[in-house]
Amino acid sequence: MWSYVWLPILLSLCTDAITMVKAAESPAAIFLPSQVGAADDDESRAFDSRNYVCSAPNPDLNYKPVIGILSHPGDGASGRLSNDSNASYIAASYVKLAEAGGARVIPLIFNEPEESLFQKLGLVNGVIFTGGWAKEGLYYEIVKKIFNKALERNDAGEHFPVYAICLGFELVTMIISQNRDILEKVDAKNSASSLQFVENVNIEGTVFQRFPPELLKKLNTDCLVMQNHQWGISPGRYEGNIALSSFFNIVTTCIDDHGKAYVSTVQSKKYPVTGVQWHPEKNAFEWGLSRIPHSEDAIQVTQLAANHLVSEARKSLNRPTSGKVLSNLIYNYKPTYCGYEGRGYDEVYIFTQQRSLL
Ligand SMILES: *[C@@H]1O[C@H](CO)[C@@H](O)[C@H](O)[C@H]1NC(C)=O
Ligand SMILES: *[C@@H]1O[C@H](CO)[C@@H](O)[C@H](O)[C@H]1NC(C)=O
Repeated sequence: MWSYVWLPILLSLCTDAITMVKAAESPAAIFLPSQVGAADDDESRAFDSRNYVCSAPNPDLNYKPVIGILSHPGDGASGRLSNDSNASYIAASYVKLAEAGGARVIPLIFNEPEESLFQKLGLVNGVIFTGGWAKEGLYYEIVKKIFNKALERNDAGEHFPVYAICLGFELVTMIISQNRDILEKVDAKNSASSLQFVENVNIEGTVFQRFPPELLKKLNTDCLVMQNHQWGISPGRYEGNIALSSFFNIVTTCIDDHGKAYVSTVQSKKYPVTGVQWHPEKNAFEWGLSRIPHSEDAIQVTQLAANHLVSEARKSLNRPTSGKVLSNLIYNYKPTYCGYEGRGYDEVYIFTQQRSLL
């Protein structure tokens, strides 16, 4: 209400200020089209559009990237939404993360027939493995197959990013180390934390590449990232595993509730594979856990992580026919709101029937 009242006043103040600056001293000032030539009545001079030609987009980038997100077993709400034994879900916050970066999403339903799942993988420009709890059975096998396919596509020359978040981080750790018992107990349920950057780490090419120096400093001191996990891996064990330490660089670590250090961000040395043991998607899009940071800095963390993910996906030049993309987009499904419980996810997409739209 107040903003409407104040808007005209503010606008007129702004206009006056700009005009004053224009008159006073600033020949290089930038003017709105309406201000150009506004002083005289010659309308033909008012706005010369030839001076405002947009530059062509970079042909090496794909400006319509699509992110595949793998669904996780269950309904994401302990049976409150669905008890269907085939149900799987994607928390909408992961979808919003991709959308916030400027991408659309295709759900990869983990228990749909493999052939159709892998056809859908052929429609996307990058993949997110989400948080959750499933570490064995079909889910583990499918994550492994998709991960290997992603590496294969990169080896074949496509830039195909993988974002492994929380459980995704844990699964990729198990897959690369080929050790299902590599994880250790960590006490980091429902807590926010800072991120400790590894000394002299090069953040070029990592999720932090676009972070302004001010925000990087705050990440180190303020609790700007959400943790919600009970498994992790210590820097010592990580570095001690040849497979892990030759595949990934450790970028950040965190301290759990008992002072134990665990690895919290890794970046592959060779592939666009990013692992985070924290939740970039929660700051802006989840409300059910009491400790999720929602400050302006925290929201920037979500936004910058989204920008990084999608900027990587834009380098994938995989451009399948549009009809196939449209009929598989997440927009063909409706999320369910389940925030009334005050815990868990706010919105989830639930997949119960095998539905191949290809
Ligand atoms: C699932 O089963 C539980 C336990 O029987 C029940 O409380 C819940 O209402 C069921 N959920 C749905 C969506 O029917
Ligand atoms: C679950 O999926 C299997 C095939 O994967 C199917 O045979 C079964 O009928 C499905 N169950 C339900 C409850 O939809």
